[in-house]
Amino acid sequence: MEFSNDKKIVFSGVQPSGNLTLGNYLGAIKNWKTLQDEYNCIYCVVDMHAITVRQDPAELRRRTLETLAIYIASGLDPKENLLFVQSHVPAHAQLAWVLDCYTMFGELSRMTQFKDKSAKNAQNINAGLFTYPSLMAADILLYKTALVPVGVDQKQHIEITRDVAERFNQIYGETFVIPEPYMPKTGTKIFSLAEPTKKMSKSDENENASIKLLDTKDAIIRKFKRAVTDSDTCVKYAEGKDGINNLMTIYSCFTSKSMEEIEKEFDGRGYGDFKLAVGEACADGLAPLQAEYARLMADKGYLESILKEGASYASYLASKTLSKVYRKIGFYQTK
Ligand code: TYM
Repeated sequence: MEFSNDKKIVFSGVQPSGNLTLGNYLGAIKNWKTLQDEYNCIYCVVDMHAITVRQDPAELRRRTLETLAIYIASGLDPKENLLFVQSHVPAHAQLAWVLDCYTMFGELSRMTQFKDKSAKNAQNINAGLFTYPSLMAADILLYKTALVPVGVDQKQHIEITRDVAERFNQIYGETFVIPEPYMPKTGTKIFSLAEPTKKMSKSDENENASIKLLDTKDAIIRKFKRAVTDSDTCVKYAEGKDGINNLMTIYSCFTSKSMEEIEKEFDGRGYGDFKLAVGEACADGLAPLQAEYARLMADKGYLESILKEGASYASYLASKTLSKVYRKIGFYQTK
């Protein structure tokens, strides 16, 4: 594959740190395919980010390939989109180190994800967890990215990427393109089904808290049935009704109905009916992805060939930015 010169770059990624959830899908992956015609899109499986939290090596390997299969199964054509694994392109680690030296301790200390993850992993507050945003900035800046499609939880990381890029450009002259976050209108934050004030997360230990993209229809329906709501009975989007608001958001993402249309549809019907409808819409919405995923996973040779080609083209693109950066900061380069 080769990108055309006249299109802007889109870059995003998912950590293969757990089974992907409905949050990952509705907040990010589902929207990626809508960008493939207008932009040169790069989607990475960010395995280097995943090891900031301990991973079982065999599971990390398995999930890396599964994540790629989910990307393709959600509609990303490997001929149109550059798909690869982060650790296959050493320039990510190389630029991350440079950016570490232009990112301040104070800035990194303010990152909500760092605060949350260090609270959850008190025995393993490693340096990688702290400098995670520099690696993410490297991912984005290496490819001259204009747009980063993510859920709202990643907005702070894009802001720090912009700050670091601007700082670098100010010292050395125009080097990096300053990226913008790109978020969907609905679904930018999907909440836990068990605690609807918390983000739905792939690392949640409570099985009922999240819908996994590969959950069976029965499991999906069961989980929505158990979803925590309030003691009211009226399906209405309103303050204080976090559980129902979340379910309405999910339903809206799958049916494209507005909140008013959903309220009308379930007027006079109880939460039971509504939860079942959300479960069905979600299971039916994910069914084509699941079928395509199963087909792809049966052909590992094909998936590996995409990874090899992806790593090679990504390395080529990334090396251009990296050598420019090395030159600007004064690293000696032989002819
Ligand atoms: P990660 O793996 O946590 O999540 C992947 C994508 O899913 C979105 N997301 C959600 N959206 C809505 N509701 C939720 N409950 C929810 N949970 C997750 C995230 O916003 C994200 O878009 N640091 C990133 C990975 C990354 C990256 C990058 C992203 C590394 N380098 C460069 C963009 C560009 C992360 O941890 O995503």
